[in-house]
Amino acid sequence: MFKKVRKAVIPAAGFGTRFLPATKAIPKEMLPIVDIPTIQYVIEEAVEAGIEEICIITNSYKQSIENHFDRSFELEEKLKTSNDLEHLEMIEKITDMVNVVSVRQKTPKGLGHAILCAKSFVGNEPFAVLLGDDIVVNPNGKGAIRQLIDIYDQTGCSVVGTRNVKDEDISKYGIVADIKPQDNGYNCVSEFVEKPALEDAASNLAILGRYVLTPGIFEKLETQPAGRGNEIQLTDAIDRLSHDEDVYSCPFEGNRYDVGDRKGFLQAQVEFALNRDDTRQAMEEIIEALGYTKTGAPQNEAPIELKIFKSKQK
Ligand code: G1P
Repeated sequence: MFKKVRKAVIPAAGFGTRFLPATKAIPKEMLPIVDIPTIQYVIEEAVEAGIEEICIITNSYKQSIENHFDRSFELEEKLKTSNDLEHLEMIEKITDMVNVVSVRQKTPKGLGHAILCAKSFVGNEPFAVLLGDDIVVNPNGKGAIRQLIDIYDQTGCSVVGTRNVKDEDISKYGIVADIKPQDNGYNCVSEFVEKPALEDAASNLAILGRYVLTPGIFEKLETQPAGRGNEIQLTDAIDRLSHDEDVYSCPFEGNRYDVGDRKGFLQAQVEFALNRDDTRQAMEEIIEALGYTKTGAPQNEAPIELKIFKSKQK
């Protein structure tokens, strides 16, 4: 039996420049999809996967994230006095959901550095990492991070959540070059490169915002020189980890919304509203009033095939 994955780290210290001016005073993680802040969806995914303790990496602009998961005595008192039990239960549920702590990243030195800030929180245990720009919904199955933890539980190794991406999206992601199928049915992956240009990429297999990491990653992060964008990159540290330990990939199932991108954010607003009993009718009316007709369930895009650009490998 391997140590259980009990803890998760959620980096939320970015400036959210893609969503300015909204993010001038409001953390991008607090922007809502319908009426729920994006970070709450991510935390709910972790809690459903059995995570017991969560560390959010923040900065001095992000106090509202801490407040969102803390008690709000005045609001609770007001709701009690007005006998608004529905809202009282809703906000108490958020506070009671899980034990959340926060650690500040004092200087913005990149995703790898943000994860390193959680070293004393994590200790010597495997842990999950969930990036808040991706919301994954898997209505008929397990959540994304649970699918990664299942592979960790079988192997005791680090696992990265992956998908094949379109050629034009390769330069947005950490890309995996070497993929080796194992007898246990999973793929071992190595040779990770952070955001390569399409012409330099060795494949279109991308790391998409979900990780389970062994504590060995901290030793790599502590000695990791700055990489792409002069930042300490998690991808580079995982690449070095993969030279010492097996790292597996998990092509997780579910609908992924890149809510760090305007189009993904807008798509999530529409689809989440259509999927909720209390907002479906309103969104259908809005869409119909605009002249769009219902064509039934949205058609899924054709799956993207894995491409190995062998000639580009070193
Ligand atoms: C980060 C990681 C990248 C990963 C991506 C997933 O990049 O550095 O390796 O593929 O998240 O969404 P970011 O999107 O924060 O620039």
